[in-house]
Amino acid sequence: MHPLPTLGARIPSRTRALSDERGQELSRSSPKENPIVNLRTAWQIFALCSLLPPMSSFAQDNLAATPPMGWNSWNHFADKVDDKVIRETADALVSTGLRDAGYVYVNIDDTWQGKRDANGEIRPNEKFPDMKALADYVHSKGLKLGIYSGPGPRTCAGYEGSLGHEQQDAETYARWGIDYLKYDWCQQPPQNVDEMKAAYTKMHDALEKTGRPIVFSLCQYGWHKVWEWGPSVGGNLWRTTGDISDRYAAMAEIGFNQNGLEKFAGPGHWNDPDMLEVGNGGMNEDEYRTHFSLWAILAAPLIAGNDLSKMTPYTVEILTNREVIAVDQDRAGKQGYRIAQEGPFEVWMKPMSDGTKVVGMFNRQRTTEQMTVNFSELGMRGEAAVRDLWLKKDLGAFKDSYRAYVPAHGVVLVRIRAK
Ligand code: GLA
Repeated sequence: MHPLPTLGARIPSRTRALSDERGQELSRSSPKENPIVNLRTAWQIFALCSLLPPMSSFAQDNLAATPPMGWNSWNHFADKVDDKVIRETADALVSTGLRDAGYVYVNIDDTWQGKRDANGEIRPNEKFPDMKALADYVHSKGLKLGIYSGPGPRTCAGYEGSLGHEQQDAETYARWGIDYLKYDWCQQPPQNVDEMKAAYTKMHDALEKTGRPIVFSLCQYGWHKVWEWGPSVGGNLWRTTGDISDRYAAMAEIGFNQNGLEKFAGPGHWNDPDMLEVGNGGMNEDEYRTHFSLWAILAAPLIAGNDLSKMTPYTVEILTNREVIAVDQDRAGKQGYRIAQEGPFEVWMKPMSDGTKVVGMFNRQRTTEQMTVNFSELGMRGEAAVRDLWLKKDLGAFKDSYRAYVPAHGVVLVRIRAK
């Protein structure tokens, strides 16, 4: 669909986080003591601000406080998405309990676009007869509607992009009642990162100008270390990799390679290792549990990508496990990372806002194996209480370490509380 960077190249060395830089900016601008200088400085700042374009960080400050949750049409339906699919998905989000578990965005991906009219305004194609009516329907269910475009002349599937029509498209989306935009690069990456930043900033500012809060999802597969500058162009989330597919090897290659990006995620701005494949049929139950657990530890957006009208009870159980969702949605917004690895055995940890540590023991081998997590690796000593988040069961107190059998390609996911 598009040229991909090599995965290895996408994982950054641990560089200084943007938030650190912002922190330093704040401390540099602390008020001076002399009140006259203060007044003058304040006036100068005010005058300067009125000359500047709107700052990219304002609009999304209150958006995506936790990783966005919802559904997207691409992984299952691709170009077969239409008005009916979206309405049925909205209905299913309600009837299956997914909405109440937190999945609120219903996102239309590529292939909805028709031609532009004489004024240059984008029209949906025949699959979407009335986008405003569709948005009203989705909203009436307590859900939000998302849409897809890109900064180039064409999208990845060859449909109309937003180049040269950014403000017009943003206004059209706002008029329809759109709440989320996935903005997909779909061209060769420019040599100059500034060109890419400018394209994303342009659409962000256009969205902001509409006055409607619209989550801004960057999709450019991790080029130019997007995690380092995603927030500065107004991104609430940014893809860190090429496209996921419904196979254990593909999912694992993406998920386990996210280590090192944790510094760049936090409330309002998230790394996005791509949408979920849970329930699409290409992985077994342990593998889907691994997928969902890893995405939760990564504080990744949880955007389901399956046909919600045909879910097995097992798929519903994975997608609606409240204790695992709570790991993803923890208000501290800390992305987890790997704390130990021995060949195909990896232990990952996510610090939670209540001081507990969520630990994923992942077995990437094809046989069941015993794995151990040492509490010292979690900064804990002595006894700790362990709860299994898939069994939904307190396992009791353990001293110094916890050991469990982990199924092939599977995970044991526990929440550990120091005593
Ligand atoms: C790219 C994106 C996918 C999807 C398709 C649509 O491949 O990475 O997630 O949006 O485009 O064409």
